Amino acid sequence: MRDRLLAAEKVKAIDWRDGTLYLLDQRALPLEEAWLACDSVAAVAEAIRAMAVRGASAIGISAAYGVVLAARARFAAGGDWIAALDADFELLETTRPTAVNLSWALRHMRERLERVREHADPLAALEVEALAIHESDREANLTMAQLGVELIRRYQGNPQALLTHCNTGALASGGFGTALGVIRGAWLEGMVERVYVDETRPWLQGSRLTAWELASEGVPVTLNADAAAAHIMKTKGLTWVVVGADRIAANGDVANKIGTYQLAVNAMHHGVRFMVVASSSTIDMSLATGEDIPLEERDARELLEVGGKPVGAAVEVFNPVFDVTPADLIDVIVTEKGIVERPDAAKMAQLLCRKRLH
Ligand code: MRU
Repeated sequence: MRDRLLAAEKVKAIDWRDGTLYLLDQRALPLEEAWLACDSVAAVAEAIRAMAVRGASAIGISAAYGVVLAARARFAAGGDWIAALDADFELLETTRPTAVNLSWALRHMRERLERVREHADPLAALEVEALAIHESDREANLTMAQLGVELIRRYQGNPQALLTHCNTGALASGGFGTALGVIRGAWLEGMVERVYVDETRPWLQGSRLTAWELASEGVPVTLNADAAAAHIMKTKGLTWVVVGADRIAANGDVANKIGTYQLAVNAMHHGVRFMVVASSSTIDMSLATGEDIPLEERDARELLEVGGKPVGAAVEVFNPVFDVTPADLIDVIVTEKGIVERPDAAKMAQLLCRKRLH
């Protein structure tokens, strides 16, 4: 199956070329395929903050390249360039609070930095580390797609109707995608009759990005308002909800795009299985439960405006863009290290002791 998945890798959203980071600007999709060239850490930080690049894995990978750009500038300026990099790490770290892949990637870059102090070419060594982070995410995507597809094959007849939320595809990762990677893999294996895509208010990752990715591959896709999900579970013979994650706590609680929690509650009520797909870099063992995960709130204009035009009454707005799904609503978490069914603290700890499967 791996070869079929590799052959299907088409969309690429992050491209490191000749010392510049190119990002497919997700604010412009699907109307325009515009590339943003980032040649400084400030440009990368702004791209993450403004969501030109988004999705937990893609944010982490971009931040790693951001460190390479920062190091290049600090090194050229001379002096204690390694100490000066602290400010750049801080800048990147504070761009978005929820996806832990960001801190994970920065921690890896910092560890590498400590080891290259005396290196003949420290900038080249940092670049190698960023490329490795990118490549390992791509590999993890392929492994997770295979594991998730086997679960879909195991539990129900085929073909099946699936539902997903937000965007977890090639645009949100270093390769094939996490949850959308599983869905794309299942489609390639002939197991998918239709994919329902929540539009994912307020930023519309579903209608603008996921629908675009699936349609461009010929996957039968139906777009629905977020509020239609329970009705779809009741009436459309849905078998699985498949979503990604921005941070998974030590007990298996999952922070993901706002609306994921209500999907899990509804899935439990309707007997629809609930799968979370995320690489192990999304797991934060330092947080005992999801209660401790910082949840980003964004600008009121995301709710009060459409396409820059005011549409809502000018009242107080609450705009959390992530929520936490308790572990006991989750059937299975799929990572590149293996799967965890009915997650809990003991099973999550056991998972992290494992090596990668492939
Ligand atoms: O605000 P976003 O678009 O960055 O949120 C993205 C999600 O919630 C995804 O489900 C998650 O990051 C997993 S993508 C590999």
